[in-house]
Amino acid sequence: MSAPKKLFVKTYGCQMNVYDSERMAEALGSEGYVATDTPDDADMILLNTCHIREKAAEKVYSELGRLKPLKSAKPDLKIGVAGCVAQAEGEEITRRQPAVDFVVGPQAYHRLPDLVAKTKTGAKPVETEFPEEDKFEHLPARPGGTLARRAPAAFLTVQEGCDKFCAFCVVPYTRGAEVSRPVEQVLNEAGNLVARGVREITLLGQNVNAYHGIGPDGEVWSLAQLIWALDKIEGLARIRFTTSHPNDMSDDLIDAHGSCAKLMPYLHLPVQSGNDRILKAMNRKHTGEAYIKLIARIRAARPDILLSGDFIVGFPGETEEEFQDTLKLVEAVGYGQGYSFKYSARPGTPAAERAEVADDVASERLYRLQALLGQQQKAAQDAMVGREVSVLFERAGRQTGQWVGKSEYLHAVHVTSDEIQPGDLRRVRITGSGTNSLAGTLM
Ligand code: SAH
Ligand code: SF4
Ligand code: F3S
Repeated sequence: MSAPKKLFVKTYGCQMNVYDSERMAEALGSEGYVATDTPDDADMILLNTCHIREKAAEKVYSELGRLKPLKSAKPDLKIGVAGCVAQAEGEEITRRQPAVDFVVGPQAYHRLPDLVAKTKTGAKPVETEFPEEDKFEHLPARPGGTLARRAPAAFLTVQEGCDKFCAFCVVPYTRGAEVSRPVEQVLNEAGNLVARGVREITLLGQNVNAYHGIGPDGEVWSLAQLIWALDKIEGLARIRFTTSHPNDMSDDLIDAHGSCAKLMPYLHLPVQSGNDRILKAMNRKHTGEAYIKLIARIRAARPDILLSGDFIVGFPGETEEEFQDTLKLVEAVGYGQGYSFKYSARPGTPAAERAEVADDVASERLYRLQALLGQQQKAAQDAMVGREVSVLFERAGRQTGQWVGKSEYLHAVHVTSDEIQPGDLRRVRITGSGTNSLAGTLM
């Protein structure tokens, strides 16, 4: 048998890309590729790209420029571009960078073995249509218990694409229309993950709480129904989901946060802005007040829930006063974690046609918002000191004997002990709060 070929995958962007990279590596595994963690000795390099903000495509082209010498040194090396830049740019990529052998979009990567075969004849296939068939039905089944154990926390895509068309966002164009995977497909994959040692599953979707998959009973199931079905899997200890849209936070999902013990008390619920005129211009279809009321209902169901959000500053036309409404909303909600971005015009989106806020103004707003979110994040972390949490340990820390895991609130927790194995779920007393993590001792 010939030596296995080596595959190097570089992943940019959101958690769904992390998941897709794993599935692509598995698909190429059937073609005899094994993973390597450096591009230098690879037989294939796959860039799994993100298009969400500025200069995404430019970054990919400069990365490709850096990889080109590897290809000159090793003409058999295959270079592929996958992900959302692949979807958005298509053939332009092979035109601009001849070192690229193939381009594949996020909905077509089940065809990877086919594409790779084509490159052997010197073709440069570009596969960016949204195929009729379900890629998940065509990917190799995810192996179950017979294979090596894997890291204790895993992602699982249950919903993909977006029909919301926020005025600033490329996702509806790069990922396509909203599609939910059937319940049984999800349960099978979850069962196989658990058989391989996974104890925490994060359900992924661009609008995961809009999940509407066909259940085994032929009815359409909600995300909450899916969560309750996952709750029954023995060995699975924790369930999370991301990312949600405020308008799809249904009653049964809010209730699940109060009553499903495996559903972790953490919710990422982006609002983008606190100003109603801007929210309307963004096509978010809710007001700031509606969001604040929603948060109150969620907190009534699960008082200790830790909230996180996404915010955009400097959306076209945003005034100083309108920006201050975002600060006020952040003050009113109190986030444990926040991700804020300077608006970036994306070609092809409605907002890209509108006059932009001056860059220095947007930068200054970003600075103020990040300062506030940083304070809230620190306060939420500091408030954990003295409390008892449960930690799922994932890996060894930097110092000898140190282990790192996540609390139910998604805080990273460091513990030094010789009793810990990855995958252990232990009660921990929090003793200190650092820059981005907590320290604790086993109970
Ligand atoms: N589906 C999720 C998030 C998608 S992208 C949702 O609906 O919230 C992740 C985050 O990137 C968004 O929440 C938004 O805050 C940010 N983002 C998206 N497009 C952007 C743009 N053009 N400029 C700046 N930030 C953007
Ligand atoms: Fe983008 Fe809006 Fe869809 Fe989120 S809901 S993916 S921000 S269009
Ligand atoms: Fe980026 Fe595509 Fe995810 S644009 S954020 S990789 S859906």
